[in-house]
Amino acid sequence: MPEPEHHQEGHRLMRALARRSVDRTPVWLMRQAGRYLPEYRATRARAGSFLALCTTPELACEVALQPLRRFRLDAAILFSDILTIPHAMGLGLHFADGEGPRFERPLRSASEITRLSPPDPEEELRYVMDAVRLLRAELGGRVPLIGFAGSPWTLATYMVEGGSSLHFARAKGLLYEEPRAAHRLLAVLADSVRSYLRAQVEAGAEALLIFDTWGTVLAPHEYRTFSLAYLERIVRGLKAEVDTPVILFGRGGGQWLHELAATGCDGLGIDWTVDLGSARREVGDQVALQGNLDPCVLYASPATIREHVRRLLEAYGPGPGHVFNLGHGLQPGMDPERVAAAVDAVHELSPRFHE
Ligand code: CP3
Repeated sequence: MPEPEHHQEGHRLMRALARRSVDRTPVWLMRQAGRYLPEYRATRARAGSFLALCTTPELACEVALQPLRRFRLDAAILFSDILTIPHAMGLGLHFADGEGPRFERPLRSASEITRLSPPDPEEELRYVMDAVRLLRAELGGRVPLIGFAGSPWTLATYMVEGGSSLHFARAKGLLYEEPRAAHRLLAVLADSVRSYLRAQVEAGAEALLIFDTWGTVLAPHEYRTFSLAYLERIVRGLKAEVDTPVILFGRGGGQWLHELAATGCDGLGIDWTVDLGSARREVGDQVALQGNLDPCVLYASPATIREHVRRLLEAYGPGPGHVFNLGHGLQPGMDPERVAAAVDAVHELSPRFHE
C-alpha cells in the first residue's frame, strides 16, 4: 500500500480536485475492485454472490482494499453498487450470473412511484455505512476514500426497465408520456441520493462521485430537464451540508461539459470520447477533470499502454487539476499486469507535468 505523503499537505487526490499543486498526477481506476482480480473472485465465491459481498461490510471492505495492495493507487472507492438505493426502496435487486442487474418488482405504474420514499441511510442502507466506516478505519489515512451513488436518471432507468436496457423504451416512454410521474420519481431519488451521500460523508467518505451513466441517451431538452436539473439539485444540496468534493461522471457527457461544470461540482469525470485537452480549455478553470483513458487500451502491450498514458498526460498538459483514470470501468477480462503498467506509467511520466 502507498505510504502517507509528508512533503505536501493533504493527499494528491484531494489537492488535484481543489486544483492545487501536486508532485505527480493522482491515479485511481473505476471498477478497480472487481472480477479481473483473482482475489476478488475468490472473496466473491466465499460470499456466495455479488450482493452478499456488498451487504457484508467485512467482505466489501476486503475487496475494496485488494487493488490497493497490488497497485500504487491514490484513492480507495467504496465497494458497493449504485443499485443499493432502489434495492432499499423494495424493488428486490438480484444479479443473475452473466446477465447484469434485475429487479423483481420494477416500477410499472405512476401509483407505484407515488408510494416510494427515500430510504434511511442508517437503517435500510446501514450495511453501506458500516462498510464505509470499516474501510475508512482500515485505510488509516493512507489514501482518501471515495463514496458514490448513481444519478437519479440513471437509477430511474434500471427501476423502470427492471434491469439494463438497450433502447430505454419504458424509461423514456415515462418521460414523454407521464412527465409528472417521472419528475416525482426523480425528485424522490434526488432526495435519496443526497441523504445517502451525506451519510457516507458522516461515515467517513472524503470525496463523492455521482455516476450519470445513462444521461446522454436523452435528447438535449430531456437531458436538461430530467437528468442535469437533478444532478444540480443534489450538488447544491450537498454543498450546503458538507465540505466534501463532488465529482460528476457523465458517460458520453462531452457535449455537456459547461452545464455539468456549472452545477457547482468540483470535478468532472469524462469518458474517452472527449479530448482531454479541449475539455481543459473549455472548463478547466472551473473544475478538475478525471479520466479518460479508453479502458480497452489495457488490452494492448505494456509499451503501448505507456505510450497512451503519456499522450493523455500531454493532452492535459502541465499544472494541477487532473485525476488520472479510465474513461469507464475496468473489464472482467483485463490482465492485472497491464493495469499495473498503466498505474506505473502515471507514476513515472507525470512528475514532469508538475515541476
Ligand atoms: O469502482 C469500484 O471498484 C467500486 C464498485 C462499483 C461497482 N459498481 C461494483 C460492481 C461501482 C462504483 C459501481 C457503479 C455502477 N453499478 C454503475 C455506474 C458506473 C458505470 O459502470 O457506468 C452502474 C451502471 C452499475 C450497475 C451495475 N452493477 C451493472 C450494470 C452491473 C452488471 C455489469 C457488470 O459490470 O457486471 C453491476 C455489477 C457490478 N457492480 C459488479 C461490480 C464489481 C460485478 C459483479 C460481479 O459479478 O462480481
